[in-house]
Amino acid sequence: MPAPRVFSGIQPTADSFHLGNYLGALRQWVAFQETHDAFYCVVDLHAITVAHDPALLRRRTRVAAAQLFAAGLDPDRCTVFVQSHVAEHTALAWVLGCLTGFGEASRMTQFKDKAAKGGSSAASLGLFSYPVLQAADILLYQTQQVPVGEDQRQHLELSRDLAIRFNHRFGPTFTVPSPYIPGGVAKITDLQDPSAKMSKSSSAPQGIIDLLDDPDAIRRKIARAVTDPGSEIRADEAAKPGVTNLLRIYAALTGEQVAALEDRYRGAGYGAFKKDLAEVVTGALAPIRERAAKLIADEPALDAMLAHGAAKARPIARATMEQVSERIGFLPAV
Ligand code: TYM
Repeated sequence: MPAPRVFSGIQPTADSFHLGNYLGALRQWVAFQETHDAFYCVVDLHAITVAHDPALLRRRTRVAAAQLFAAGLDPDRCTVFVQSHVAEHTALAWVLGCLTGFGEASRMTQFKDKAAKGGSSAASLGLFSYPVLQAADILLYQTQQVPVGEDQRQHLELSRDLAIRFNHRFGPTFTVPSPYIPGGVAKITDLQDPSAKMSKSSSAPQGIIDLLDDPDAIRRKIARAVTDPGSEIRADEAAKPGVTNLLRIYAALTGEQVAALEDRYRGAGYGAFKKDLAEVVTGALAPIRERAAKLIADEPALDAMLAHGAAKARPIARATMEQVSERIGFLPAV
């Protein structure tokens, strides 16, 4: 039996990934490379669905790739590549777009949020069809599981629907993918606003712990994180969302249970707890930051790693697209 296939993607839309990306997605990606045939993609095509600067995109795409390798992805055990390097992503997105209802795409909450933020007349067709391109990413690789955070659940549902619809109309072609959403850490919240997710595009800098933050910045941000009335260190989503988020981060990075942390910090006060948490976070992120800096410093080597990944991804994408073309009724190109 071949190892089951996983696929996931991440946008190069910031100078660093954040702790939500790491705990909600990246850590699972690293674990999956041991047990699965894993494909991970820096989705630069998705990054241009909102206004962008070309030089910045180039830099952020490399910085994104460097962080993936620094977090533990091994190019010999999984496939890491850049989306625009494999042309089939856009080819399949077109076909799937022709199977997607206008109303169906209009119901996507991330589109509604992003369009509302920029004013809906400023929203591009690309932003509207963003989830269709994401479905193409996933379906091209005959993916069984997609490790993502909670915010991607609706996009995954669309990917499943499109796979089922295509298979029904044109014959069995796509594996129907399942989301893999980790418990507890699938929604790490903003340190300044625990009702919102930690987000590259919408959190204030003090609300985000970046993977590439230096230890002083991490200590400062954790010290200033919003806590809740009272001084008890206890997980309670409704009454103590700020402390609950910090407890989850602590537990996820140390492998401890939240209940064990509640016991340990009973009566300790927020100050002592935050001080320890800052040490846990800086300890976990320092090696990633150091490895990423080395990788970013050698652009030719990094580009070669990405070329190697694209070369592994391309034949699989091509085989799926050939089958799709045949099923759809396109003439062979030869
Ligand atoms: P992106 O770049 O916004 O985020 C990358 C991954 O990080 C997760 N994540 C979080 N998890 C927990 N807490 C948070 N605060 C948090 N913020 C982000 C996201 O759920 C995601 O797993 N549309 C995708 C990129 C994409 C993709 C794909 C994903 C394109 N094609 C195919 C899977 C499969 C996105 O914007 O991720």
